[in-house]
Amino acid sequence: MTPSFILSLLVTAVLAKKHSVKTESHYQCQTFSVPIQVDNVTTVVLPFPPLKDQYQATSLLDSITDRYQSTAPPQLTTLTGSYNIEAEYCQPTTPSSNNSTLQILTHGIGFNRTYWDFYLPSNQSDTQYSYISSATAAGHSTLSYNRLGIRGSTLANPYTEVQASVQLDVLVQLTTLARQGKLPIYLPIPQKVIHVGHSYGSQLTNALAAAFPTLTDGVVLTGFSHQYQYQTLFVANSNLLIASVFNNQTFPSSLYSTGYQTWPSQWSNQYSFFAYPAFDPAVLAQAEATKQPFTIGEFISSKTLPTEAPGFKGPVLYVVGQEDLIFCASNCTGLVGPGTAAFNAFNGTSDIQAVIVPHLGHGLNLHLNASGLVYAPINDWVSRHGF
Ligand SMILES: *[C@@H]1O[C@H](CO)[C@@H](O)[C@H](O)[C@H]1NC(C)=O
Ligand SMILES: *[C@@H]1O[C@H](CO)[C@@H](O)[C@H](O)[C@H]1NC(C)=O
Ligand SMILES: *[C@@H]1O[C@H](CO)[C@@H](O)[C@H](O)[C@H]1NC(C)=O
Ligand SMILES: *[C@@H]1O[C@H](CO)[C@@H](O)[C@H](O)[C@H]1NC(C)=O
Ligand SMILES: *[C@@H]1O[C@H](CO)[C@@H](O)[C@H](O)[C@H]1NC(C)=O
Ligand SMILES: *[C@@H]1O[C@H](CO)[C@@H](O)[C@H](O)[C@H]1NC(C)=O
Ligand SMILES: *[C@@H]1O[C@H](CO)[C@@H](O)[C@H](O)[C@H]1NC(C)=O
Ligand SMILES: *[C@@H]1O[C@H](CO)[C@@H](O)[C@H](O)[C@H]1NC(C)=O
Ligand SMILES: *[C@@H]1O[C@H](CO)[C@@H](O)[C@H](O)[C@H]1NC(C)=O
Repeated sequence: MTPSFILSLLVTAVLAKKHSVKTESHYQCQTFSVPIQVDNVTTVVLPFPPLKDQYQATSLLDSITDRYQSTAPPQLTTLTGSYNIEAEYCQPTTPSSNNSTLQILTHGIGFNRTYWDFYLPSNQSDTQYSYISSATAAGHSTLSYNRLGIRGSTLANPYTEVQASVQLDVLVQLTTLARQGKLPIYLPIPQKVIHVGHSYGSQLTNALAAAFPTLTDGVVLTGFSHQYQYQTLFVANSNLLIASVFNNQTFPSSLYSTGYQTWPSQWSNQYSFFAYPAFDPAVLAQAEATKQPFTIGEFISSKTLPTEAPGFKGPVLYVVGQEDLIFCASNCTGLVGPGTAAFNAFNGTSDIQAVIVPHLGHGLNLHLNASGLVYAPINDWVSRHGF
C-alpha cells in the first residue's frame, strides 16, 4: 500500500468514527466547506495599531473599560476578500413531517459550532447538552457553522477582517445559498428558515432580522438581552489575553496573531459562561479545553451592527439564563420582557416571547439539563409556530 493510500484509509476511518457517533443515534450530519466572497463590506478602522505584545493588550483593555469613552463615530473603510466557512448540515435519520423548515445556528464567542452539539467525551450517549440532538429528535434539520476566525473556517486577519459586518455578511450569504439550494451539498430547499443564535451569534441573528428581514421567518435569540454595557465584565475577566501567549501550542502565533484573544483559566470561563451550581465541573473543564479565541476586530466592531428590527414581521423568542453575566450582570429580571429594549427592537411584530431560565448562566447549552430547560421550550415554540 502506498503511504497516501494508507493515509486516506486513516482519514476515512477517522471520519467514519466521527460520523458513527451520530449515526448510532437518531441523526446524521454532513460537514462541508463553503467558499464565501465578501464584496466591499463596510468595516471599522480600529483606532490603534496591531498589538505588539501582552503589555499593549492589557493597556488596550484599560482603555476599553475607561470611565470616559469616546462617542465619536468610528472611521470606516471597506473590505473585499475570499474565505472558507466550515458548515454542518444535520437531519433526522428517520423521515419526518417536520422537515420543511431549516434552522440556521450561529454560535457565540469562545466556542465553535460544537456549542450546538456538545457531548462529554466520557459519555457520548448523554444527549442532555446537544441542541442538535434535541432539534433532530423533534424532526427538524439544522445548519451550523464555524464563524469566520474559528479553526475549520478561515483564520482571517483579526483586526481588519474578522469583524461584525463580515460575520453578518457570511450569515446572510449562507442563508441565501441554503434558501436557493446552492450549498455545496444536497440539501432540500427549505420552505422556511429560522435563525437561532447564542450571544454574539444572537447579535448577528438580530442584525440579520434588522437589515434583511425577509431572509428569516423566525428568530430565537439565546444568551442575549440588548443590554451591551455589561460586556466590559467579560472583556475585563478575559484580560484580553493574547491566545498565543496563553498557549503557543494550541494557538500557534503563526495562525493566531496578536488580535486573537482568550482568557486565562477555567475560573474565568466559569465567571463568564456558567452559573454555579447548575453545571457539571466536567463540562466546564471540557469547555475550557476546547475554547476558541475571539478577535479584537469582532469585539470592537460589534457596536456597529444594526439592532432595531422594525421591518421584521415574524415571531421572536428570547431565551436567557436568569444569572447571565455578559448580558444581564448576573440578574436578568426586568431586562428581557415587554417594554424592554429587547422587545422594543422588534416593534414590527406582536409575536414576541421570552423564557428566563432560573439558575442558568450565559452559556445556556452547557448547563445541567439544557435539553429539558432550554431546548424543550425552543422546540415547543418552533412547533407552535408551525415551523
Ligand atoms: C464600495 O462601497 C462604498 C460605500 O460603502 C461605495 O462608495 C463604493 O463605490 C463601493 N465600491 C465598489 C467598487 O462597489
Ligand atoms: C420530508 O420527509 C418526507 C418523508 O416524511 C420526505 O418525503 C420529504 O422529501 C422530506 N422533505 C424534505 C424537504 O426534506
Ligand atoms: C451517560 O449519560 C446517560 C444519560 O444521561 C446516563 O443515563 C448514563 O448513566 C451515563 N453513563 C455514564 C457512564 O455516566
Ligand atoms: C413534529 O411536530 C409536531 C408538532 O408540530 C410534534 O407533535 C411532533 O412530535 C414532531 N416530531 C416529529 C418527529 O414529527
Ligand atoms: C510562539 O512560538 C513561535 C515558534 O517557536 C515563536 O516564533 C513565537 O514568538 C511564539 N509566540 C509567542 C507569543 O510566544
Ligand atoms: C471545536 O474545537 C475543538 C477544540 O479545538 C475541537 O476539538 C473540535 O473538533 C472543534 N469542532 C468543530 C466542529 O470545529
Ligand atoms: C418602531 O421602531 C422604529 C425604530 O426602530 C421607529 O422608527 C418606529 O417609529 C417604531 N414604531 C412604532 C409603531 O413604535
Ligand atoms: C434581581 O433583580 C431584581 C430587581 O430587578 C430583584 O428584585 C431581585 O432580588 C434580584 N435577584 C437577586 C437574586 O438578587
Ligand atoms: C429537566 O428539565 C425538565 C423541564 O423543566 C424537567 O421536567 C425534568 O425533570 C428535568 N430533568 C432533570 C433530570 O432534572
